[in-house]
Amino acid sequence: MLSRSKFSPLSLALCWLVCLLCFGHAEDRSTPGRERISLNADWRFSRFEQIPDGVSYDHRPGLPDTLGTEILKPWILPSANEFINDPSEQYQRPVEEPLANISFVQQSFDDSAWERVRLPHDWAIKGPFYAGDDVPVSGPMGRLPVHGVGWYRRRLTKSGQDEGKSVFLDIDGAMSYAMVWLNGHLIGGWPFGYNSFRLDLTPYLRRGDDNQLAIRVENPTNSSRWYPGTGLYRNVWLTKVDQTHIAQDGTFVTSRSVSDKWATVDISINIQHTGPAPRRVKVTTDVHHVDPSTGRIGAKVGSFPSTSISLSATSQHQINSTLQIRRPNLWGPSPRQKPHLYRAITRLSSDNRIIDTYETQFGIRSLTFDGEKGLLVNGQRTKIQGVNQHHDLGALGTAFNRRAAERQLQLLQELGCNGIRMAHNPPAPELLDLTDRMGFLVVNEIFDAWNASKTEADSSLIFADWHEPDLRAFIRRDRNHPSVIAWSFGNEVEEQKSEQGAVLAQRLHGIVKQEDPTRPAVQSLHAAGPSAPIVQVQDVINLNYQGEGTFDGPAYSYLPAQFRKRPQYPEFHKAHPDKLIWGSETAATLSSRGTYFFPVTREMAAPLNETDGGNALPCCPKRMVWNYRHGGLQEGPILPISVTVAP
Ligand SMILES: *[C@@H]1O[C@H](CO)[C@@H](O)[C@H](O)[C@H]1NC(C)=O
Ligand SMILES: *[C@@H]1O[C@H](CO)[C@@H](O)[C@H](O)[C@H]1NC(C)=O
Ligand SMILES: *[C@@H]1O[C@H](CO)[C@@H](O)[C@H](O)[C@H]1NC(C)=O
Ligand SMILES: *[C@@H]1O[C@H](CO)[C@@H](O)[C@H](O)[C@H]1NC(C)=O
Ligand SMILES: *[C@@H]1O[C@H](CO)[C@@H](O)[C@H](O)[C@H]1NC(C)=O
Repeated sequence: MLSRSKFSPLSLALCWLVCLLCFGHAEDRSTPGRERISLNADWRFSRFEQIPDGVSYDHRPGLPDTLGTEILKPWILPSANEFINDPSEQYQRPVEEPLANISFVQQSFDDSAWERVRLPHDWAIKGPFYAGDDVPVSGPMGRLPVHGVGWYRRRLTKSGQDEGKSVFLDIDGAMSYAMVWLNGHLIGGWPFGYNSFRLDLTPYLRRGDDNQLAIRVENPTNSSRWYPGTGLYRNVWLTKVDQTHIAQDGTFVTSRSVSDKWATVDISINIQHTGPAPRRVKVTTDVHHVDPSTGRIGAKVGSFPSTSISLSATSQHQINSTLQIRRPNLWGPSPRQKPHLYRAITRLSSDNRIIDTYETQFGIRSLTFDGEKGLLVNGQRTKIQGVNQHHDLGALGTAFNRRAAERQLQLLQELGCNGIRMAHNPPAPELLDLTDRMGFLVVNEIFDAWNASKTEADSSLIFADWHEPDLRAFIRRDRNHPSVIAWSFGNEVEEQKSEQGAVLAQRLHGIVKQEDPTRPAVQSLHAAGPSAPIVQVQDVINLNYQGEGTFDGPAYSYLPAQFRKRPQYPEFHKAHPDKLIWGSETAATLSSRGTYFFPVTREMAAPLNETDGGNALPCCPKRMVWNYRHGGLQEGPILPISVTVAP
């Protein structure tokens, strides 16, 4: 009976439940002094096509009847302060609270009729698709109901053990214009939908289990050139730490003088103390191997010298130290090299008690970007055979799913791919854990538009206020990943050909270098020529479709002459012999995207080769194109199709 009862239906069901709970879902993680709790469960959600609550982040084109809509931007901007270096440019929260009295943020609001959802959540992917010509969301954004306002509500608990701790809300990504209320109080937010952000809940969290968290997101129409997804589409966490703790993304590990005999590893640790009294803490950091198959921590390799520091009341403190590692296991791209990883475990202690534990995964590797030899990884010449990958998971939408992302990478690896450009925005943090472990070379990219727009309500609307905090937050989150080999701060921006564009590029380049001097700062050009001033600003030249030379050859004889230039790689190399050149995007609409029509014919677009190639221009009439709406060939301009493929 005993052995049978092991397999009783009830225990089998429980076993399934446990498996379901742990499979593909974010796991809680507790280390001495630090708790990271998944907040993915137990949300109530409602979406509104029109503004339901009388508020918006800001005025914008297409925002209906802004009369009477209260603009909440002044209360959101202070969330950027941690990422604005000049204190005189940081924001003060207005003394007055917003006037709007939004019922959805009140504890008393009855949300029992709202949909129950579990995060990550993308409300639009379930459809229905819009058909016809006069639609609120057209082809480029996926013809799916991405627009409007989404509200998410959930309760939070504060126990006696949380007394005196700092409690942070960590949102890995919210699409877009996220604004967060706790117990009716507007805490802050983050407009750009691709960045991760943290908000401090500590001052407004009450003892008990009835703290009301409410999050509002809003997606304007015409805000993107592709399906952006919606909602709380990545993991959301609650982080509980001591008042003295390692700051958000508060470590930076780099390596130098790397060989297979020795490597010098530097760590920079940023410690935050929010308590009202001075405090003395001891800081130690051990370095361990990581077991490549399980991702678990392995044998200890060494320790950085420990230090004791005195922190004054409410202060931040940075400490730097160095460790020599003998016979390091280097990180390199698969399959020719192995992606070995290490983990640094930093502990803060006070009165012989550990008050925080913070883990930083990193790799030891050297990169050389050489105008003649190309890319060398650990001294080995390495050809990048890469793809551009958007953040969605094809038909699954944008709700992050670890296994789906891992499967994409496995299939890419089977195809012989060893590189990914994160087109054109930062990915979920877990994706970079996967590229680290699987050995991909990553160009991590942030902006598709700077100050000049590509679509009328895209991120250019927030660029002036947010480019610095977005850029700094992006790099701080991702700079310990060995798979990231370059930062791209722009894709085909409108400003690429102008003098002012080069000045702006210089400013963005400078911010990237302040945050990480170890990697090249780049951006992709598709219209600038070799003498454009912006080319001087790139550490590596990134050309989409060979820069200004794109549409050469017989297949393009129908195009106006100004578009028909031969490939410009030789001209770029001649003008900038010291700089490596990458083909950062070479075949976007080869044949078609999302659905593949074979054979590839001149009518669909022409294949790229050494003397000829590129995709068809969206501008040009008198060309037979596949009409996605009617499902047939007809004469007309090619619409930019932006459904990304899950391979
Ligand atoms: C806000 O609205 C609620 C009802 O949703 C009402 O009970 C409360 O009195 C209002 N507060 C203010 C300050 O107007
Ligand atoms: C999107 O932008 C286009 C071009 O500016 C405009 O014609 C269209 O009305 C906009 N659509 C919506 C739903 O705002
Ligand atoms: C510590 O390291 C960081 C990151 O590398 C660097 O920005 C900073 O200047 C260093 N501080 C000192 C005092 O060397
Ligand atoms: C940014 O764009 C706005 C609107 O197009 C324009 O008025 C402004 O001059 C631009 N600013 C810069 C620095 O280019
Ligand atoms: C490149 O493509 C053009 C047009 O499609 C073709 O005529 C030419 O032969 C191709 N060249 C090579 C080397 O394949």
